[in-house]
Amino acid sequence: MEALGDAPASPAAAGGLDDALRAIDGVEGWLSPDQAEWLWRHARGVRAGGRIVEIGSYRGRSTILLATAAAAGVEIVAIDPHAGNDRGPQQIEGSASEGEADHRAFLANLSSAGVAGRVRHVRLPSADARGAWSGEIDLLYVDGAHRYRPARDDIRDWGERVRPGGTMLVHDAFSSIGVTLALMRLVLMGRRFRYAGRTRSLAAYTRAELPGGERVRNALRQSAELPWFARNLVVKVALATGLSALARIVGYRSREWPY
Ligand SMILES: C[S@@+](CC[C@H](N)C(=O)[O-])C[C@H]1O[C@@H](n2cnc3c(N)ncnc32)[C@H](O)[C@@H]1O
Repeated sequence: MEALGDAPASPAAAGGLDDALRAIDGVEGWLSPDQAEWLWRHARGVRAGGRIVEIGSYRGRSTILLATAAAAGVEIVAIDPHAGNDRGPQQIEGSASEGEADHRAFLANLSSAGVAGRVRHVRLPSADARGAWSGEIDLLYVDGAHRYRPARDDIRDWGERVRPGGTMLVHDAFSSIGVTLALMRLVLMGRRFRYAGRTRSLAAYTRAELPGGERVRNALRQSAELPWFARNLVVKVALATGLSALARIVGYRSREWPY
């Protein structure tokens, strides 16, 4: 693991949500203001001595949010190989130089926000980082590779380490095909995570042991998101093919990739 330095805490680190939103202003990435607020509130709820793990940091947008929200004494681990692949929407195959650029931007952004000393960066693919340390996770944020297999492995293998009552937040849920299939395979009918809702594509799950009847209700709550998933697929096809009229039919007027 790489500690990112001992930069002094910034005003953002001692401040509230508005300070945290200011700290990520201009930091590239995929985290809308409402999603940032969710992330902030969940991170704020982790007690001293607890652990937050992020999978997929990119240039530090969500990492800074987590680090500015977390109480003193909360460990924050950010896992991202910065290898250039699976960087973002429609960016599966990338180059090492793109990965290096992300890494440099990540370091600079955390430093500017004054949170470099709060974050341990593990520059490895999440599957290889599992042995880097042991112990439970209070808040897991999953936003790494979005293809089915790596998303499934992250949700299964890292989700397994979330403590009872802890939270798993998943970005691009009911939006990315790979992430959504992984959730349907592992969580929809599973008994370990209770679906707690979403803001856009940021879905929240609480680690639990669900009895039979609760599992059915849990599955129904998640299934109710499938029409929104279908709408996102239509939007993505429309944006990828330039058929903006198709996106407008489902009420989507932005040119931005939905997340
Ligand atoms: C969608 S971006 C993350 C966005 C970030 N959370 C934000 O707030 O902007 C996906 C990131 O996952 C990283 N990634 C790709 N494969 C990974 C893997 N196997 N393990 C961990 N991270 C991975 C990429 O390098 C990329 O930075």
